[in-house]
Amino acid sequence: MRNPPPQPIRLKDYAPPDFLIDSVELFFSLHKSKTRVRSRLALRRNPKGRSGAPLVLDGDDLTLERVSLDGRPLDREAYETGPENFKLAQPPEGPFILEIETLVDPTANTQLSGLYRSGANYCTQCEAQGFRRITYFLDRPDALAVYTTRIEADKSEAPLLLSNGDLVEAGALEAGRHFAVWRDPYPKPCYLFALVGGDLGSISRDFTTKSGRKVKLSIFVEHGKEARADYAMDALERAMRWDEERFGREYDLDVFNIVAVSDFNMGAMENKGLNIFNDKYVLASPQTATDADYAAVEAVIAHEYFHNWTGNRITCRDWFQLCLKEGLTVYRDQEFSADMRSRAVKRINDVRTLRLTQFVEDAGPLAHPVRPDSYRAIDNFYTATVYEKGAEIVRMLNTLIGAEAFARGMEIYFTRFDGTAATVEDFLSCFAESAKRDLSQFARWYSQAGTPVVEVATRHDPQTRVFSLTLSQSTPPTPGQEQKLPLEIPIALALFDAAGNKLALETNDAKADEIAQGRIVLSSETRTLRFPNLAAAPSVSLLRGFSAPARLEPPVGEADLLRLLAHDDDPFNRWQASQSLALRSIFARVRGEERTDDAFADGLGRLISQSNDPAFTALALTFPSEADLAREQGEDVDPDALHAARKALRETLGHALKTSLAKILERLTEQGAYSPDAASAGRRALHNVALDLLAAGDGALGTQLAEAHFNAARNMTDRLAALGTLALVGGDARENAFARFYEEFAEDSLVIDKWFSLQATIPEEATTRRVLDLLAHKDFSLSNPNRARALLGAFAAGNPTRFHARDGSGYALFVDAVISIDPKNPQLAARLLTSLRSWRTLEPDRRRLAEEALRRVAAVPTLSGDTNDIATRALA
Ligand code: PHE
Ligand code: ZN
Repeated sequence: MRNPPPQPIRLKDYAPPDFLIDSVELFFSLHKSKTRVRSRLALRRNPKGRSGAPLVLDGDDLTLERVSLDGRPLDREAYETGPENFKLAQPPEGPFILEIETLVDPTANTQLSGLYRSGANYCTQCEAQGFRRITYFLDRPDALAVYTTRIEADKSEAPLLLSNGDLVEAGALEAGRHFAVWRDPYPKPCYLFALVGGDLGSISRDFTTKSGRKVKLSIFVEHGKEARADYAMDALERAMRWDEERFGREYDLDVFNIVAVSDFNMGAMENKGLNIFNDKYVLASPQTATDADYAAVEAVIAHEYFHNWTGNRITCRDWFQLCLKEGLTVYRDQEFSADMRSRAVKRINDVRTLRLTQFVEDAGPLAHPVRPDSYRAIDNFYTATVYEKGAEIVRMLNTLIGAEAFARGMEIYFTRFDGTAATVEDFLSCFAESAKRDLSQFARWYSQAGTPVVEVATRHDPQTRVFSLTLSQSTPPTPGQEQKLPLEIPIALALFDAAGNKLALETNDAKADEIAQGRIVLSSETRTLRFPNLAAAPSVSLLRGFSAPARLEPPVGEADLLRLLAHDDDPFNRWQASQSLALRSIFARVRGEERTDDAFADGLGRLISQSNDPAFTALALTFPSEADLAREQGEDVDPDALHAARKALRETLGHALKTSLAKILERLTEQGAYSPDAASAGRRALHNVALDLLAAGDGALGTQLAEAHFNAARNMTDRLAALGTLALVGGDARENAFARFYEEFAEDSLVIDKWFSLQATIPEEATTRRVLDLLAHKDFSLSNPNRARALLGAFAAGNPTRFHARDGSGYALFVDAVISIDPKNPQLAARLLTSLRSWRTLEPDRRRLAEEALRRVAAVPTLSGDTNDIATRALA
């Protein structure tokens, strides 16, 4: 039977819970297939609930063993229970104690939600609705309770027993069993509950908070991998210090534990005092992790830690408010990384991600507001829109009201809403107060989906010497939202004359001060700025620093872009100029125009010789990906044409820049011990980008250099980059390198994931066969999310020509895999399936094939609710 997603849940139907849970005592007796869970709930009616309402608790896949009320066992007739709930029709009016015993099977739990096994360990994942898979409960984020958790297990199987909060008791029991009792004094919703049992190695460090609290920090990993957790520990300490300094936030328990597991649906989870991580975001060593991996470890460690205040101390009233914790916490981790590394490079990378993920989501059938107003499967709303666009809104708020009012607003938020389950309105009210400003128009960023377009029109009158700049905004329709209202769009701007000098922004405008500082707010549909006294039309640099998540139209002209590439003092827009020039050239090639790109190559050559920031230069030499091109084109996409045009541009530039690129290689040969710091990483990035571009221009030379680089590489960054270049040039060199790489790292699953991914992205016809073979490889498994994503996710997102193959072979293998994954792990299947969301932007033949592929998924009779939700919305 099909498992249809439940009826939509709507924000407007929110009602507070009918009951409150003051405290929870949990007793776990861990067993591989029959874990016994006893829960003792102190309940009472919520004065804000409906009077006389029954008590209804959520459940999912539980075996109910017994129930008692105020110490008296309840007969089977005294309650109702179905697959998804437990109901007491007439609970006592006064406070009461309800005890429920359930059995769960962690080994059979392949969804990785609830209590499950990863390797030989027990772990939990409760966000969003996994706690109901452990015991019957009010599984909603506004039901806050204090938890005490007692865990028993075989000491030999699970010497380590962890839960939230501080350890209060531990000891031996008979028959080789032992126990530990944990108590978390901070009221929390059940999605923040966690438990770990197993046998793990660890590293620990002492940390003293600014007010003198001594905290023991520990990271638990597979035995033998302890040294690979050092960088994560270092990042954790820096994140804790930074949150004290930048946001005045201190840690609040005596211990902070992080556990790395290898089977995890997402990146990591912020459970109070016991973060559980996908080991990909904990483990790093020079031999196994790239610079990008190090940066990701740092960011995710910080992100989860920052949730302790933005998410845990202040949580969400309901799941519609998810961005309240996620958007804000992403903003916080972005700021942290910007302070630890290069702010400009961090911003560029964040915007690349935003465009690649969120802009695409916003332009397709899965578009939804940052705060959605309805959902059928909440698991499907952990999206780029909620996370990345949610962070952009917080960033714009800072820009709009200024850093000082922003900081005061955050302070109000932390003080006023501590210990509560809050809403987006609560959050905004703090800034309306600190900035003494109405934020109701700004709030539309939360409720209105779609990427706004800012249309730019310029005019220069040589007679009057007036330059006028007209900016108009519009937001395209999205599912369920035909009409859009104007937003408040902060736009940072500058003007440059022909010699590249930055011009003073003098106007007679009523808001001349604001304009003079290069920051305006576009809040109406159209606004015109007039700059008198300009002898010639200047080049306009708009949305500097990417001041708003918007699209500019029409594209800036070539002469202006070349000028900005040479002179813009905003690094983001300087980088943007390189990207826009590449886009212009590629799309001209797609239209069949002959291009030499001399001026572009000269511009890049000058940038290479003048720049003293290798990481930035590397980004300027990294041209829009095929996925970027597809997004920019937006309709009638032919991935083969985009691939060919992009390749031709790289060939041209690789050839034209040969001398400069060769100099980079000479200059940046790696010496000394590996260090993951941003400056060293920047030098490696530039070296590797230069090598790759050189190889695009001269295949023979490229192969030779890449092979040498691969053989000489002493760290994973260089090793993998060289392999990536070889993957593109092909031939024996490539196959030998892949074979050697496998032999060397066969035992290391995170590295083998890279081996799978890179092969999946080779843009050649033979890759389809290769991916089919890899699906049958002895190391492949659909049950491990990292592995499944490494092969299938990389194929779908990183190999447009093969995924969208004209004969439908890419869709066929992908959809087969999604259908096989779905019964085991619906969340994973649903997320993978989102790769097909842009099917309507393809040219007609592929569009038809992609639609058929989606329909094939939708037609599976036993499809999960999560996957059904994605398939249905994608096709709507
Ligand atoms: N809350 C986690 C985070 O972003 C993400 C997550 C969601 C993890 C759901 C697991 C399940 O930090
Ligand atoms: Zn988060």
